[in-house]
Amino acid sequence: MMNLECQKELFTLTEGIHYFNCASKSPLLKSAELLAVKAVQYQRHPFHLKDVDFFSEVENVKEEFAKLINTSKNNIAIIPSVSYGFASMLKNVSPKDNGHALTIRDEFPSGYYALEKWCIDNSNSLKIVNPILSESEVGKSWNHQVVESINDDTSVVLMSAIHWINGLKFDIQAIGKKCKNVGAKLLIDGTQMLGAMPFDISKYDIDGIVCGGYKWLFGPYSVALAYFDDAFFNGKPIEESWMNRVNARDFKNLTNYNDNYLEGASRYCVGETSNFILMAILLEGLKQVNEWTPYAIQNYCAKLMSPVREIMIKKGLYTEAEAFSVNHILSMQLPSSIDPTNFKQKLEENKFFVSQRGNALRLSFNVFNSEDEVAKFISFLSVNI
Ligand SMILES: Cc1ncc(COP(=O)(O)O)c(C=O)c1O
Repeated sequence: MMNLECQKELFTLTEGIHYFNCASKSPLLKSAELLAVKAVQYQRHPFHLKDVDFFSEVENVKEEFAKLINTSKNNIAIIPSVSYGFASMLKNVSPKDNGHALTIRDEFPSGYYALEKWCIDNSNSLKIVNPILSESEVGKSWNHQVVESINDDTSVVLMSAIHWINGLKFDIQAIGKKCKNVGAKLLIDGTQMLGAMPFDISKYDIDGIVCGGYKWLFGPYSVALAYFDDAFFNGKPIEESWMNRVNARDFKNLTNYNDNYLEGASRYCVGETSNFILMAILLEGLKQVNEWTPYAIQNYCAKLMSPVREIMIKKGLYTEAEAFSVNHILSMQLPSSIDPTNFKQKLEENKFFVSQRGNALRLSFNVFNSEDEVAKFISFLSVNI
């Protein structure tokens, strides 16, 4: 297995800035930047563009993402956003009579709004599973509650695998199993998981996964990816792109309209899928993640996160069990005497960049962060908390 060292030199990060916020937006790989510039320059002379160019990069992106999650590229669709992916999936989920949909407290809005609309349109109720906040280790009981809340009336469960606010890990294996037992669909937001840690779809009962491209996949904003289980292959997309029909590659005969979609999940790809400039960045990011391997990325993040978690535990500010924690995201619950907004500002004055989510500060690491930066951060925490 590959052992990763710090990869900072592959990025153009400003010297002295400590960017602990990949969960918000990844920095750009230097190699991806070069490829994007090349892709822009290519636009100067569109006569170079061959029909096949509209499809080749897209196929490579599907291939790399399929490799990342150990599936076939036939199951992958390229979409513009997580909200788009969930809209496509939910359009093809049938409600149970007097049934309900289920999600977790503070699910990312792209998933929440899609599910809320589906419930209204399909006369199902929406159930939110809350954590028991009085418990010190929320993960175990929250996971238990999610599994227990899934029953014969559950039509669909939509939730994140890793909570975007606090990095809490959900047991999507147990949740998937229960969904399968009761005939409910399971749709997962993998945005804060895929790319940062190993994931093999063949080990889970999951019907669909959506993943933003601009965080742990080192892609650009406005391109995302989705996995659709085979059961969606005869479904209805939310738009009718000519690129998703079987005659799409025959540019001279496009108006010989054809009713048949391309095979697999292709019908769910967004129109103008080629997206030449952004696709170049996403492909490079995916290739790099696959080369590093998510396993090695997560292990590298563990080296950075362990000492931070240690000091947080010592100060009584982190109480989650390791089984429900990840090494790339951690939520710092500050003491009530410290205002999180002011503290974040103070951090920025000292060149540490994190996110504020609710009353907590979210810290996230990736391979461009160094142990040296983390040591500086720990010194800052020791003095200021
Ligand atoms: C868990 C999660 N899902 C989705 C998104 C982005 O969703 P969308 O692509 O719909 O803007 C984010 C962005 O922060 C996120 O953290």
